[in-house]
Amino acid sequence: MNIIVTGGAGFIGSNFIFYMLKKYPDYRIVCLDSLTYAGNLSTLAPVMDNPNFRFVKEDITNREGVYKLFEEEHPDVIVNFAAESHVDRSIENPQIFLNTNIIGTSVLMDACRKYGIKRFHQVSTDEVYGDLPIDRPDLFFTEDTPIHTSSPYSSSKASADLLVMAYHRTYGLPVSISRCSNNYGPYQFPEKLIPLMIKNALNDQPLPVYGKGLNVRDWLYVEDHCRAIDLIIHNGRQGEVYNVGGHNEMKNIDIVKLICRELGKSESLITYVADRKGHDQRYAIDPAKIHHELGWLPETRFADGIRMTIQWYLDNRKWWEDIISGDYQNYYEKMYANRIADGSRQA
Ligand code: NAD
Ligand code: TYD
Repeated sequence: MNIIVTGGAGFIGSNFIFYMLKKYPDYRIVCLDSLTYAGNLSTLAPVMDNPNFRFVKEDITNREGVYKLFEEEHPDVIVNFAAESHVDRSIENPQIFLNTNIIGTSVLMDACRKYGIKRFHQVSTDEVYGDLPIDRPDLFFTEDTPIHTSSPYSSSKASADLLVMAYHRTYGLPVSISRCSNNYGPYQFPEKLIPLMIKNALNDQPLPVYGKGLNVRDWLYVEDHCRAIDLIIHNGRQGEVYNVGGHNEMKNIDIVKLICRELGKSESLITYVADRKGHDQRYAIDPAKIHHELGWLPETRFADGIRMTIQWYLDNRKWWEDIISGDYQNYYEKMYANRIADGSRQA
């Protein structure tokens, strides 16, 4: 089997490549990634010398480059992780999200139509369903929940999902979609909640919690997500959507406090800052379909996963220190300066 993994130099894509090369030593994995700020070639260093692995620096919106790669590789399966993935950045600058997440997905699928593939798998998100009220813990996202997006990010992902289903219906393209809840684990860029809080706590910097910190996310260890995608591309039905999540809902503030405790840092670092515009209240996945059809269940409990993740950031300081030494610093100052002015440090 020859699989093209797009966005494989990012957080989940790199974890997926490691998982697949280990589980299927005879598969060929080709990573296509344009190396945006979120893509990091050093992440892929452990597999660069693997003869069954190839890295290609290319943009999924570049039709010529994508077609050339299909001609060279004759892939069986495409797993599309490549995306602009951070909600706060999408609020600042939506355009790049539309280009990569929508146009890029359509270019990949055009290549699939032209050259023929066994499966195009779109890695989507539970954010396409919008949010659920915090005071209705009985409600969950199922695959039939209507698309109802809040941010430019989730809107661009939802648009891509609609195109994927349209290519299935119109052209018969063998597609599948997974919609997963929030991931955490090694190699996550320190702009997202968990790695950002670990990094700031380790540097004794303020921990910027949006609003009152009461928003709820449904956290899944990244390897459990990788296993779900593996099952879907091998055994999942084409034309189907699979929700992926482990019933692990947590308030943001509880996660930040947990990180403080694990690192032996004072909760006085917690700083309540201005809320995100359009901030989704609660995400919660009903994973019954993937459980019943494909036997998927999460294997990593949050208590274990968060410890492994914190330990990974302690053991791999150079990885994230290199990342935050460059453009990231400008990003951080721009994004948080106004927010922090609005917040007050909590004792
Ligand atoms: P990430 O931001 O860490 O990585 C994205 C990768 O895509 C980077 O390597 C980047 O260089 C690459 N990329 C961006 N634009 C590109 C382009 N135009 N051409 C080629 N490569 C490009 O993202 P992530 O957190 O690993 O998320 C991966 C996928 O999973 C995304 O599609 C995201 O929507 C989805 N997802 C993420 C989460 C989460 O919690 N992180 C949850 C559910 C779904
Ligand atoms: P994030 O990791 O950006 O994921 P998403 O918004 O896609 O779910 O944020 C997770 C939650 O944490 C979200 O409710 C926003 C909140 N958050 C903060 O409170 N402070 C921060 O600095 C960040 C990045 C996020």
